[in-house]
Amino acid sequence: MSLSVIILAAGKGTRMKSSLPKVLHAVAHKPMIQHVIDTAISLKADKIHVVYGHGGEQLIEQLQPQYPDLQWIHQEEQLGTGHAVQQAMPLIQPEENVLILYGDVPLVTQDSLTALFTAYQKNNEFALMTATFADPTGYGRIVRQNGDVQAIVEQKDASQEVLAIQEINTGVMLVQGKKLLNWLSELRAENAQKEYYLTDIVAMAVQEGCNIQTSEPHQVCEIMGANDKIQLAQLEQDYQRRLVQELMSNGASVRDPQRVDIRGEVTIGQDVEIDVNVILEGRVHLGDHVKIGANCILKDCEIGEGTEIHPFSMIDSSIVHQYCQIGPYARLRPETTLQDKAKVGNFVEVKKSTLGTGAKANHLAYIGDAEVGEKVNIGAGTITCNYDGANKSKTVIEAGAFIGSNSSLVAPVSIGKNATVGAGSTVTKSVGDEELVIARGKQRHIQNWQRPVKKKG
Ligand code: UD1
Ligand code: CA
Repeated sequence: MSLSVIILAAGKGTRMKSSLPKVLHAVAHKPMIQHVIDTAISLKADKIHVVYGHGGEQLIEQLQPQYPDLQWIHQEEQLGTGHAVQQAMPLIQPEENVLILYGDVPLVTQDSLTALFTAYQKNNEFALMTATFADPTGYGRIVRQNGDVQAIVEQKDASQEVLAIQEINTGVMLVQGKKLLNWLSELRAENAQKEYYLTDIVAMAVQEGCNIQTSEPHQVCEIMGANDKIQLAQLEQDYQRRLVQELMSNGASVRDPQRVDIRGEVTIGQDVEIDVNVILEGRVHLGDHVKIGANCILKDCEIGEGTEIHPFSMIDSSIVHQYCQIGPYARLRPETTLQDKAKVGNFVEVKKSTLGTGAKANHLAYIGDAEVGEKVNIGAGTITCNYDGANKSKTVIEAGAFIGSNSSLVAPVSIGKNATVGAGSTVTKSVGDEELVIARGKQRHIQNWQRPVKKKG
């Protein structure tokens, strides 16, 4: 079945009170329209058309690089949903099936759309996604006779009797291309809003004897749009709930599902535990038995089996292998790799560095642009001085070395295998294997030292 998807996204979105076009406002860090595009792609659409209006340049600029195959269609004036779809018609072939989605209704699922396709396939003419609301105010109402859909009547054009109908038009529809082309050409803007209503094609179809099929979405949030920041926050919540439920059904133990935020794609192994106020962003993979403590932020990272991340830690664009211990209060910055069983403790910052198997930096250290070998022990207060004010340089610490507390390793510098650096050293020259280096002022003793006294007057 050949499928063209038309995404309506020309609305101004004035109620967002923002310079950003409405459909670029994000849910879970991803612009609303991108959710819709990704869903269309998941349906294996042959073509995806985006009808844009205000702020279109911004839209194209942002989406074009990621989705080079989108068809962009400009709707100069917003004369209604029917008019919007008309703009795409020159690109639609009669033999195609056309799915209409809204760019500001991001949470519609592939599952619910598949149900719509199943309904459509009864006659391959026309299927509508409808929903039943206790309060249907504002929506187009589905008028039925003997159970068959007769028409959609917009709120502003509805009689009292029609206003009482609780079944509404979600806006999502699937229509045969050939018929759509015909019906759209007959639309008139003769209604309360002087707009070309897409919904008018329903009555036209019925006139031609078409039996309109319907299906309902699995969840109400799937058909909700965001016109302002309040509705956007609601969608965010709904979406978060969905993502967290997915994690839990994949086996994660989540201490409080309302206090985890997922802003990307998270994959997990078995028996993962996630405590409260954890934010997972971008692409995150958590291996088997990973434990994440409260208040951690993990972005674009892979965490290996059995690793524990203690509270208040941040990990960004890093790879952590198996059975590592991180935090509390640790920060791994981009391009960090921890090999198995490495430990990065409280107030340790690591940037663009590798820590070898079993290496430890347990407290208060900065490790930047460094290669740290197996089983190295980095004492509290150690700093790799990687920056001279102009350039970055590298520190290499070979396997088994012991760096005494409060040492400064002035890069470029290397510390040999099993070497020892005395506490408080400022190391400016490389240290050989097995050596002890002490690079600090010698301790002196002055007997009977008189402390200064305060001057009088
Ligand atoms: C529309 C439906 C209504 C349905 C409701 C569901 C019509 C006439 N009405 O009403 O039956 O219950 O959606 O939310 O179709 N758009 C354009 N160009 C335009 C007008 C709209 O691109 O000229 C886009 C908007 O950006 C939006 C979508 O179409 O994404 C729907 O437009 P909106 O004005 O929200 O439609 P409603 O009046 O709410
Ligand atoms: Ca609307």
